Amino acid sequence: MATTAVAPAKATSVFADVPEAPADPILGLNSAFLADEAPNKISLGVGAFRTDEGKPYVLPVVKRVEQQLAADPATNHEYLPIDGLPAFQKLSAELILGKDSKAMKDGRVVTIQALSGTGALRVGITFLGRFLRTSGSPPAVYIPTPTWSNHRNIVPDAGLGAARTYRYLDAVSGGVDLPSMLADLSDAPAGSVIVLHGCAHNPTGADPSPAQWADILAVVQSRRLIPFFDNAYQGFASGDLDADAASVRLFADAGIDMVLSQSFAKNMGLYGQRIGALSVVLAEGTPDVATAAKAVRSQLKAVVRPMYSSPPAHGARIAVGVLGDEANYAEWKKELAGMAGRIGDMRTALKAALDSNGTPGDWSRIVNQIGMFSYTGLSAQQVAHLRNKHHIYMTSNGRISMAGLTTSTVQRVADAMKDAVETVVKQE
Ligand code: LMR
Repeated sequence: MATTAVAPAKATSVFADVPEAPADPILGLNSAFLADEAPNKISLGVGAFRTDEGKPYVLPVVKRVEQQLAADPATNHEYLPIDGLPAFQKLSAELILGKDSKAMKDGRVVTIQALSGTGALRVGITFLGRFLRTSGSPPAVYIPTPTWSNHRNIVPDAGLGAARTYRYLDAVSGGVDLPSMLADLSDAPAGSVIVLHGCAHNPTGADPSPAQWADILAVVQSRRLIPFFDNAYQGFASGDLDADAASVRLFADAGIDMVLSQSFAKNMGLYGQRIGALSVVLAEGTPDVATAAKAVRSQLKAVVRPMYSSPPAHGARIAVGVLGDEANYAEWKKELAGMAGRIGDMRTALKAALDSNGTPGDWSRIVNQIGMFSYTGLSAQQVAHLRNKHHIYMTSNGRISMAGLTTSTVQRVADAMKDAVETVVKQE
């Protein structure tokens, strides 16, 4: 009789040959920053708001709502429904689409709570892969070049294969290269999904003008493309929630099918709470819209349940406390304008410091770009020099998180940038 081989007590693990994955270009950088023991290190990497003292910021209105929730004897820790807190769904959709949204009044908007922007994108792309068919296959998904690095992970992980790209940035001016973008969108097969940054494009800080958005909409409509708006920075571009939703509302007013992701990480400072929303907006001519909307919701829930069951309650309740109370909402709007204002001040200060210390180059893009980031045009080698010699951290594509700058560090950063530009020759 054959004996079963028993593994020796100290056998090599079956996981011994697992290859190490590359560090995430944004969150991995943050880990490297935390591990750096230099006392004067500066983080301009991850897009997270900091005060002028360089500290994380808990919005006062958020803190107050949290304290009220903690003191409320009715607060419990039961599961939320698979699609999240109903009040949160409605308030999130109103925030991005506007209180007078025709699509919402028509019952054409299906919103679920999601694990912040990433979770909304992941569930949304999975849903599109299941139910959007172009000639029998899942749709192609187009993302801009450059874009937020996680877009490139989410699309294949949702089972849709590698994302395709459309050109976006004019590297010389630092603005939007609209002719190239429109040419690439015009070449996309009908039914393709087009990921658009609603405002404060990450990483470039370059947004289309209102007239350019109208041109993009015209191509989307004529090519029958499905826009998927990633809205991670509503309120951070202009400081005004409505102005930052203008692109989304323009498309929604056209009555087309579209998908929206929202994040409350930046604008409410709820980063680690993972609070966001996913909305599917059905086209205006949909017959029996109530039945279609009910079916779409059921399928979004069918994506969520095996993935993470249901979303977290605490942050959603905070968001409802802010969005659903007139006084809190007004206070939040003021705080948002203040945060956007501080970023604007840092733009002005960095540009002035680079001009006055004579750093070679034209730095006007720093004040022309908008939102949380500045896309400096520094090369990967120059970025490495800044990190190795000056302990200043930014993503290797030369993106600076402007909120990482403070009044007291801006000069040092400008001087280090001068050193990097002068000593590290840029390789095109
Ligand atoms: C960023 O781009 O830095 C942020 O959106 C944080 C993240 O998750 O990458």
